Amino acid sequence: MTKKILILYGTETGNSELLAMDAEKMAKDNGLEPTINGMDEVSVAEIQEHNNLIVVCSTWGDGEQPDNAIELYEATTEAAEGTFSNLNFAVLALGDTAFDLFCEAGIQWDDVLEQKGGNRINDRIDCDTDYDDEAEEWLEETIGLFVENEA
Ligand SMILES: Cc1cc2nc3c(=O)[nH]c(=O)nc-3n(C[C@H](O)[C@H](O)[C@H](O)COP(=O)(O)O)c2cc1C
Repeated sequence: MTKKILILYGTETGNSELLAMDAEKMAKDNGLEPTINGMDEVSVAEIQEHNNLIVVCSTWGDGEQPDNAIELYEATTEAAEGTFSNLNFAVLALGDTAFDLFCEAGIQWDDVLEQKGGNRINDRIDCDTDYDDEAEEWLEETIGLFVENEA
């Protein structure tokens, strides 16, 4: 059976969405079956149906979640302990080092997914504005780790 992976993006101006689309293509090229969604298109229960998750999320305001991520993030913080005990995850955070709270929203996702029982399959990457090359490299590596993993 083809291994499924959910790719979620939190974005305001589309950078995270474009990277999520790159991840979707890489996943397909590596034999995975990806589903890509904005964070306002899924619920906690729908995430729970998956075993594999990549989060791509930017930071806005003063270290805040982007608009389309706010509700899902809040719901995730309120989820029961162990909600994601069957979930392997990895987080790509987008931000700008000109801000004090660099990549804070991605850091929050990385923390809350672990707190709720998720298994971090690769260390988070925190990307500054010139992120293209390192983001692509991280995505390739991370998708490779999902491919190798049992779940
Ligand atoms: C008004 C504004 C506020 C921002 N606040 C932060 C911030 O607090 N921390 C950070 O790391 N990046 C911050 N950023 C940078 C964005 O996260 C970055 O531009 C990112 O690539 C946007 O991705 P998106 O198009 O997916 O939303 C901010 C950008 C703008 C325009």
